[in-house]
Amino acid sequence: MTNLVAGATGTVGRRIVAELLDRGQAVRALTRDLTKADFPEGVEVVEGDLTDPETLVAALQGVTGLHLITFGGPYFTPLETGPRILELAGEAGVRRVTVLNGGGDTPLETAVRESGFAWTVVMPVEFMANALSWADGIRETDEVREPFTDRLSAMVHEGDIGAVAAVALTEEGHAGQTYLLSGPRVLTVKDKTTALARARGRDITLVELGRDEAIAQWRAAGQPEDVIEFLLEVYGNTPEVGRTVNDTVRRVTGRPARTFDEWATEHAAAFTA
Ligand SMILES: NC(=O)c1ccc[n+]([C@@H]2O[C@H](COP(=O)([O-])OP(=O)(O)OC[C@H]3O[C@@H](n4cnc5c(N)ncnc54)[C@H](OP(=O)(O)O)[C@@H]3O)[C@@H](O)[C@H]2O)c1
Repeated sequence: MTNLVAGATGTVGRRIVAELLDRGQAVRALTRDLTKADFPEGVEVVEGDLTDPETLVAALQGVTGLHLITFGGPYFTPLETGPRILELAGEAGVRRVTVLNGGGDTPLETAVRESGFAWTVVMPVEFMANALSWADGIRETDEVREPFTDRLSAMVHEGDIGAVAAVALTEEGHAGQTYLLSGPRVLTVKDKTTALARARGRDITLVELGRDEAIAQWRAAGQPEDVIEFLLEVYGNTPEVGRTVNDTVRRVTGRPARTFDEWATEHAAAFTA
C-alpha cells in the first residue's frame, strides 16, 4: 500500500507524510523541485507538477492512497487539471483520495467529489502555523501589530490535520466525508500572543492597528490586493465555523486536538532572538 502526498513540502503535507510514516505506511512525497525536498529516511521523493498531469504518471505507479491539494501555483491558483489527474490515478489503481480544502469551492475538489474514488475532504479552519507570520516582528521588536485583535479563531494544529488525512487514507469508514477540523479552544489574538510569550519566556506587546494602518502594513509586506481584501473580510467578520470548536479530530484520530500552547512550545525557537 503506497500513498502519494501532493503538497508534501508544505505546512500540512509535511505532517501528512510524518503521520503516514508513523503508521508504517509507504510514502511518496511529490514536489516540483527535488533539490528542495528534505524528508526523513524512508520517504520516497518524486518529481511532478499538478498543472501538468502527465508528469505524475511515474509518481502514481503502484499508489493506492492519494492526497491532493486544490491549487497549483502562487497565491493558491486553483487547479483545473483535476479530471485528468483523477483519470491517471484510476489507471494506476488508486482507491482512496483525500483533499485539503482550499477555503472554498474549487474545481479540483468538485472533480474529486464527483469521482468514483473513496474520497474524503479535509476542511481545516485557520492553521496554528499562521502565527509564524508574527515571528520576525516578535524576534526583532517583541511586538505583534494587528487589526481586529478581538477576533476569535478556533485554530487547528497542522499535525492534527495531517493525522486526520492519514487516517482517511489508510482506514475504512471515511469515504464521502467532509471533515471540518478545529482546534480545542476559541482564541483571541491576545490569547495567542500570551501563549507565545509564555513559550519563549519573554513578553510580547500587542499593538492594535486600525483598518488603514493594517492595509498599509500588508501592502508594505508585498501582499496582493485580493489577499488584503480576504484578510480584512475574515478578520473583521470571521465566519461562525472559523470560531467554533468541534470534536472531529478526536472522533477521527481517537486523540484530543492539540492546543495552541503545545504548538507555541514546539515552535518557541522561531519566536526567540
Ligand atoms: N493557512 C490557513 O489558515 C488555511 C486554512 C484552511 C485552508 N487552507 C488551505 O491550505 C492550502 C495551503 O496548504 P499549505 O499551507 O500546507 O501549503 P504551503 O505550505 O503553501 O505549500 C504549498 C505546497 O503546494 C505544492 N505545490 C504548489 N503548486 C504545485 C504544483 N503545481 N504541483 C505540485 N505541487 C505544488 C508545493 O510543492 P513544491 O513547491 O515542493 O512543488 C508545496 O508543497 C490552501 O489551499 C489554503 O487555502 C489554509
